[in-house]
Amino acid sequence: FHVPKAVNEPVKGYAPNSPEKAAVQAAYTKMWNSKIDVPLYIGSEEIRTGNTKTMSAPHDHKHVVGTYHLAEKSHVEKAIANALESRTAWANMAWEQRAAIFLKAAELIAGPYRARINAATMIAQSKNVHQAEIDASCELIDFLRFNVEFMTQIYGDQPTSTSDMWNRLEYRPLEGFVYAITPFNFTAIAANLPASAAMMGNVVVWKPSDSQVFSAQIIIEVFKEAGVPDGVINVVFGDAQMITDTVLASRDFAGLHFTGSTHVFKDIWAKIGTNIHHYKTYPRIVGETGGKDFIIAHSSANPKQVSTGIVRGAFEFQGQKCSAASRAYVPQSMWPAVKEQIITDVKSMKMGSPEDFGNFITAVIHEGSFDKLASFIDQAKKDTDAEIIVGGNYDKSVGYFIEPTVIVTTNPHYSTMATELFGPVMTIFVYEDAKWEETLELVDTTSEYALTGAVFSQDRYAIEVATVKLQNAAGNFYINDKPTGAVVGQQPFGGARASGTNDKAGSPLNLLRWASPRTIKETF
Ligand code: SER
Repeated sequence: FHVPKAVNEPVKGYAPNSPEKAAVQAAYTKMWNSKIDVPLYIGSEEIRTGNTKTMSAPHDHKHVVGTYHLAEKSHVEKAIANALESRTAWANMAWEQRAAIFLKAAELIAGPYRARINAATMIAQSKNVHQAEIDASCELIDFLRFNVEFMTQIYGDQPTSTSDMWNRLEYRPLEGFVYAITPFNFTAIAANLPASAAMMGNVVVWKPSDSQVFSAQIIIEVFKEAGVPDGVINVVFGDAQMITDTVLASRDFAGLHFTGSTHVFKDIWAKIGTNIHHYKTYPRIVGETGGKDFIIAHSSANPKQVSTGIVRGAFEFQGQKCSAASRAYVPQSMWPAVKEQIITDVKSMKMGSPEDFGNFITAVIHEGSFDKLASFIDQAKKDTDAEIIVGGNYDKSVGYFIEPTVIVTTNPHYSTMATELFGPVMTIFVYEDAKWEETLELVDTTSEYALTGAVFSQDRYAIEVATVKLQNAAGNFYINDKPTGAVVGQQPFGGARASGTNDKAGSPLNLLRWASPRTIKETF
């Protein structure tokens, strides 16, 4: 049995007058004016509870894009019951059939749903068109295609047998259901967390982020059209604490697939620990959490590469990628050139609504994020050990706009060198060229996280030293490139320490977490 060899979905360019640009613009305008109403999806039902919240666009927060319905405890229990009822048929379905369903879902996104899911991601998550394309289309499609290819490897990986003895591994799904909690910042991750567990035969209760409801609805529509049976992936929105507590109270809770904040993940882990005697099986816990991702330049590096890495790594999607660079270490000898280029590049970035395809920077996700970022910027304006060299303005009158801001500090332990801000604020520490190894030590010890990081150097020995000394500082380590933009099938993604369980999204490692293999020995 062969599935098509997975290939990465080509990124469309959205050039002026291109058909793809016209299609996204039309989808954007239609959605902007349509007042979408998003129900819960439980079993075969679309449930409108009547208890609703409104959704606004972060770049125009007075404009209500739509509403979504909030679950009560009974809806979450119903979602669990529906998942469990669907489990036997789904788990027993030939895995090739499940693969076909998710391959079809990939093709639906690549074709008829592409403009709509990109537009939804632009409106509700405020991504510019390019960031929407590489996420909601390309990365999402890649997750589905590559995970299907990994399924074939996993199911085909069998132990040795002899002529009178047959050994085999049966990759059963977990005994129970999987709970997926997904973030606002990647539509692709939102789709992948329920889908990767479901591909391996699991049934799922999925709680999307309140800020990603709009594209979540399109994802579930695509899955249903592709053939995911009712009840296999159930979607509930609403109070995260209540939903999580209800899920964790079920004896059949068998796995958590999580992307979100470190403290929420730790809280859930602790609750699972408290409930451990209650569960039928040890739940699998897979999480990708916070980051304080770094760039370190060696004095041999190319200054233009360094400044581009800093600017793109820190400011694409307003710094709201878990992989975004938010602290950098630049040697003194290179600093004047890097500084000048950063200021020039940042000043050339246009900020505004994603509806204008020329805008590189749009709004941050919500008022809470805006206020947090603004307070750190205000503090930097007061502190004597910090200086803002570009940006520093913000305005929430129309949308939650924060200028891309670069702080330079003389204190390597300055608050914004260690605290995760999740926004367009980069902090730079300029180090003495001779203190390369001490600076690597600082990179390693300044933050509790270890998600992504990058070293820039033309000196092979310096690259070697950085690679060894920073071996635990980042799960995704980049040499002469920005630390964002991992491509499925090329750079499996995830980190350790306070950044997660490092079960590498977009890899067989991750899929294996959703299987509970049975070894069968038969003698003849
Ligand atoms: N894949 C994204 C990146 O590397 C993060 O999920 O930027």
